[in-house]
Amino acid sequence: MSPERGPLAGRRIVVGVTGSIAAYKAVLLVRRLMERGATVDVALTRSAAAFVTPLTFASLTHRPVVSDVLDLDAEQQIAHIELAEAADAVVVAPATANVLAELAIGMASSSVTAIACASRAPVVVAPAMDAGMWTNPATQRNVATLREFGYLLVEPEVGSLASGLTGIGRLAEPGTIADTVERLFERAGDLEGLRVVVSAGGTREPIDPVRFIGNRSSGKMGTAIAEAARDRGATVTLIAGAMSVNPPPGVSVVNATTAQAMRQAVMREAPGADILVMAAAVADFAPKQASGRKIKRDGAELQVELVPNPDIIAEVAEMPTDIRPFLIGFAAESQDLEANAIGKLRDKGLDLIVGNVVGGPFDAIGSDENKVTVFGSEGALTDWPMLPKRQIAERLWDLIADRYRSARGPDGAQKEKAGRRPRAGSAGSRR
Ligand SMILES: Cc1cc2nc3c(=O)[nH]c(=O)nc-3n(C[C@H](O)[C@H](O)[C@H](O)COP(=O)(O)O)c2cc1C
Repeated sequence: MSPERGPLAGRRIVVGVTGSIAAYKAVLLVRRLMERGATVDVALTRSAAAFVTPLTFASLTHRPVVSDVLDLDAEQQIAHIELAEAADAVVVAPATANVLAELAIGMASSSVTAIACASRAPVVVAPAMDAGMWTNPATQRNVATLREFGYLLVEPEVGSLASGLTGIGRLAEPGTIADTVERLFERAGDLEGLRVVVSAGGTREPIDPVRFIGNRSSGKMGTAIAEAARDRGATVTLIAGAMSVNPPPGVSVVNATTAQAMRQAVMREAPGADILVMAAAVADFAPKQASGRKIKRDGAELQVELVPNPDIIAEVAEMPTDIRPFLIGFAAESQDLEANAIGKLRDKGLDLIVGNVVGGPFDAIGSDENKVTVFGSEGALTDWPMLPKRQIAERLWDLIADRYRSARGPDGAQKEKAGRRPRAGSAGSRR
């Protein structure tokens, strides 16, 4: 495939090089990625710079190299944060035993670990080391931890090592590492042509002009879902409740901070959309009457009467089939996750439900990661570990796209697009 059209075309990849004898192969990796159309930035650890100089990488990429975690870029911004945010993927190759350990405990003392730690993009790690270091239980435990975090490992190969011995630990070939990076983006475009609506964040039900009943939802999960759908080519509308994160660029945003406003927005956006993901935490109850004036303290007890809010997702489920989107709900349960989630899915007529346990020792609300299980009417469909929310979003879209196409046909054509609106143009790039 030509570099202009391949999965890496226009992608920004950060290659983090660490202090292994295999660092010279990172030069070839950078070339392979550039040949396939990627824009490559390089970060080096202090040890890596003793093997291959920043000059080599700077001349190859025509871009500044970040070799110190304290570096500022040309605009006086923190270089490792700028790169972490701009990256579509981070590739640590070669990765030393030392850097695997640092990543596994979240250290950020070098430019490479700081970028991997700060980035929300997928991180690919290609270890290279002596066989004894690779098989050491501490290294193996670190590798297992990184896998659990959702890092993508490119296994080292068996072959002759720098020590003169033959064994496992040799860096995978640059072409193999480039293939792995490329595969990250092959899914890009699989939602092309689909109109996706995602709700995110919490609602705030007013008591008076300054007080409300709300919840701690941050909007991070819904935002990650919207961002991932955008990156895969969908036209995305984000219905944003109260959120502690900014909506991603390249998606249409409708603000809706009360359950009633959220209902109105969903009822306007959902008809004719292909897929609706209701990740927002919509309050079940709202004060019956919000006071027009700020309620004064007068020493007396205050009773706030609550009335049930509309069940938005159930209302969407009842839409005529020609305009009803494929429907994914969320269930946050403090107990009996499976029974409650499947019960909710069946009662409300959803296609899929994403369940997570709240109120336990781990608090997913506001966190950057979560452990979720997706249920269909036949039961649990996934057994995923704790993952960063962006990676949950990617896995969710793999599953949703598959189920959507099984239910609606390869292009969703089975559904008569009665209420469908024209596409609002390209979804835009990730950042
Ligand atoms: C010649 C030489 C080759 C080395 N090769 C490796 C290697 O392949 N893998 C590894 O994990 N460490 C290797 N090391 C040790 C690392 O350079 C050392 O652990 C260093 O602290 C790694 O720093 P970094 O992870 O911040 O880059 C090598 C050291 C030397 C002197």
